[in-house]
Amino acid sequence: MSRLTRLFLSISCAFYAVSCTAPGTTAPNTTQNSGAAGQQVSRSEVDFTTQIKPLLESRCLVCHNTGTLLGHLNLEMRAYAFQPGPDGPFIVPGQPEKSKLYTFTLLSEGSSQAMPPTKHRLSAKEKTLLYDWIAQGAEWPRGPEGTLKTIPDPAG
Ligand code: HEC
Repeated sequence: MSRLTRLFLSISCAFYAVSCTAPGTTAPNTTQNSGAAGQQVSRSEVDFTTQIKPLLESRCLVCHNTGTLLGHLNLEMRAYAFQPGPDGPFIVPGQPEKSKLYTFTLLSEGSSQAMPPTKHRLSAKEKTLLYDWIAQGAEWPRGPEGTLKTIPDPAG
């Protein structure tokens, strides 16, 4: 085999490898990135008042309000919830993977930081709701509609 043939082979192999693996390796990232940028097309729009508010009120608010301010997080209203804690913001609109309000719900039950810390964890559907809501910009109305009050956890 001449040196030129070998060179040609290695170049075409390299090209083949790139052109064949590129779609497979970049596709999932592209999906993820568009999700993080809040440009998801496959999931429907999350409504704060009917979907997020009841979830926070029944599962988080009991420990995260003005009177019981655990972890420096107050979810009573928009102005408090968006106030950063000592280690940074709890909610980063458009970036659920940087939002502790979402990422801490993913931690396993054994972790001391897993939220909620009770045995009744969030369902996959509820976590997806939080993810999508933040990815879509974390819309949280001001005024009475965006004011939260503790309601009992339906699962007790
Ligand atoms: C039974 C009480 C309780 C409930 C219910 C609860 N938390 Fe917490 N949360 C805590 C405590 C205690 C801490 C402080 C943990 C620490 O400092 O290690 C905390 C801290 C946090 C933090 C801040 C973590 C940090 O280190 O900055 C976030 C975010 C959080 N909780 C989110 C939630 C969310 C979202 C829910 C509802 C799905 C929830 N929590 C429900 C008790 C609770």
